[in-house]
Amino acid sequence: MKKFLSRGYPYHRGRRTRINENIRELVSETSLSSSKLIMPYFIREDNDDSNIFSMKGIKRLSCKELLEKISKDLKNGVNTFALFPKILDTKKSSLADESVNEKNLVCRALRIVKQEFPDVILICDVALDAYTINGHDGVVNSNGKIDNDKTIDILKNMSVNFAASGCDIIAPSDMMDGRVKIIREGLESKKFYETSILSYSSKFCSNFYSPFRDALGSQNNLGKSNKKTYQIDFRNRREAIKESLEDVQEGADILMVKPAGYYLDIIREIKNISLIPVSAFQVSGEYSMIKNASEEGLIDYEKCVLESLFCIKRAGADLIFSYFSSEVARWLKS
Ligand code: PBG
Repeated sequence: MKKFLSRGYPYHRGRRTRINENIRELVSETSLSSSKLIMPYFIREDNDDSNIFSMKGIKRLSCKELLEKISKDLKNGVNTFALFPKILDTKKSSLADESVNEKNLVCRALRIVKQEFPDVILICDVALDAYTINGHDGVVNSNGKIDNDKTIDILKNMSVNFAASGCDIIAPSDMMDGRVKIIREGLESKKFYETSILSYSSKFCSNFYSPFRDALGSQNNLGKSNKKTYQIDFRNRREAIKESLEDVQEGADILMVKPAGYYLDIIREIKNISLIPVSAFQVSGEYSMIKNASEEGLIDYEKCVLESLFCIKRAGADLIFSYFSSEVARWLKS
């Protein structure tokens, strides 16, 4: 800012560099490329329901449908996918046992996708909420409290299980203390030296996750309970930075800020201090707001989607998780 020595109007006319399309392109500061977009996919058992009431245009996919989607996305330049399973209720338990089953839904999907497309990058969410009867990301003890250390031990085994099935990037989204360290040690001890950890390092206790919980089938299980004892209070900025710096120390390869659109200040601050890539997750509630408002004819779908993503990039995100990724990649290509 100190270098800005304008003598003011008419020497300064900001409109000169906005006067036509080409010059606007020339001076544009932010770009969007499909190679930086990550598409989240919900996966299901073949006989389970595919409809997600709260996310228009998004369905839970069988493994076969997942392959078809990925095949199309690859043609449009999206190479990275995050998998979120909706497992059958009968498989949920208090200790999330299904998460460490080497034949669970995620492991089967990993193997099928890797066999067909060895070069795609697959990211697995690591938290217990998809597997617990209470919808919490951690183990709930008999006193009703979340047991941090018992949880991270399960997360470690879950991570090793996913890595062994072909997962490239382990993404702990649980916000337990010390999980990145324990997961890193677990991966190293089993010789998964090349498996990255993308830590949901600044994950806020947000009200914008509810469509996702509906997609996963964990919303009813969670009921009136909340995740405030582990996810960050949305009023806090310095705490989010502290959590991110801790995760770098513990061995994270990539950081994340989540949600994205209302947390641009956090993205920028973390970008300014971090030497590793920063990702942002445009979450389910952000998706559904844009989707539904445009279906109502209130806003222009394509323009608002692109603006939302450009602004997240401008804030400093290197990569973005967005449910719009597949569509945007198609637009960018045409
Ligand atoms: C699981 C998890 C959540 C999301 C990603 N991983 C939900 C939550 O923490 O309750 C939210 C993603 C979205 O809303 O799109 N811990």
